[in-house]
This record gives sequence, C-alpha cells and structure tokens, in this order.
Amino acid sequence: MHTFKDFYRNKVTLSFDDHPFARHPKHVWVICLYGDQWLLTRHKDRGLEFPGGKVEDKERPEDAAVREVWEETGGVTESIVYIGQYIVAGKGGTIVKNVYMAIVQDLIPQKTYYETHGPILLETIPKNVKHRASYSFIMKDDVLPRCLHYVNTHIRN
Ligand code: GTP
Repeated sequence: MHTFKDFYRNKVTLSFDDHPFARHPKHVWVICLYGDQWLLTRHKDRGLEFPGGKVEDKERPEDAAVREVWEETGGVTESIVYIGQYIVAGKGGTIVKNVYMAIVQDLIPQKTYYETHGPILLETIPKNVKHRASYSFIMKDDVLPRCLHYVNTHIRN
C-alpha cells in the first residue's frame, strides 16, 4: 500500500494487490501502449492524461476500460491486464479506480472523442509532469510514477 496526497491534497491510497478496496469499482484508468509509444488523450478541461472514466451500470470494469480507450482515443485494445487499484478520499466523497495496462493494436480516427480531443502519442512521459500545466491533475500524484514503474518492471519487456 502506498499513501500520498494528490494535486488537490486529497488522500490517495494505491495498491497492486487484487482489488483491495472494491470488487466492483466505479472508475477505471488505462495505461496504454501503442507500439513503442504511450497513448494518452487530451481531456478538454483537464489536459493530457491516460484514458479512463466511469464504469456504466452492469458493465464490467475491464469492459469499461476497453470502451474508454476506444471512445477517447480510437484505440483498439489487443490485450489488457489489471495492475492495481486506488482510492481517493475527497471532500465530496470517496472514489475507487482500477488501473489497467492495455496494448493497443490499432488507432482508428473517430468523429468524436467525447470529452477529449483524441489521441496523443508520446515516446516518453516527462519526469516533471507535476509541474506542467498541459497535464491533467490525475497524472500529478504518485499513482503515475508508481504504476509506470510497476509496468516497466512486471509487464513490459
Ligand atoms: P462527473 O462530473 O460526474 O463526471 O464527476 P466528477 O467531476 O464529480 O468526478 P468523479 O466522480 O469522477 O470524481 C470525483 C472526485 O474524485 C474528483 O473531483 C476528484 O477530486 C477525484 N478523482 C477522480 N478521479 C481521480 C483520479 O484519478 N485521481 C485523483 N487524485 N482524484 C480523482
């Protein structure tokens, strides 16, 4: 378990165990790789972030993850694996989010990317994301570096 504060000073707890906080979380976040590049999206309000969002009624979180990648980037998921889960205790309530890693095999241009401006491909994720206005607040706490480290040491080869 790793506990830290997020960009808004909310308490975040991240774990790489199997669904430690909720069996059916309502939020998902997906670290995406397309070839050798990271696939992000540019949220219209928040800025650059890995795709993600809310799990719909009766939807499995993993299906929500695949759907969000498709809707926000046009990315077709080839494979997806659960990485971990985090809980954010905010002023307005608590949310639980599953983190996945997806391998994207194809990027198909879309007419709409919903609340985002669509796909962004990056060779590397900058070390100073925390201080860059172009990045979303959800990329600005320890979830990102810890999950990237997990991906690089456990999954990516
Ligand atoms: P909608 O307007 O209904 O889309 O939702 P919302 O803006 O209220 O946000 P949501 O229910 O997704 O999340 C509620 C609060 O949880 C947000 O305002 C954030 O403070 C926090 N939150 C959501 N996702 C994350 C995340 O990935 N990381 C961190 N640190 N906080 C998050």
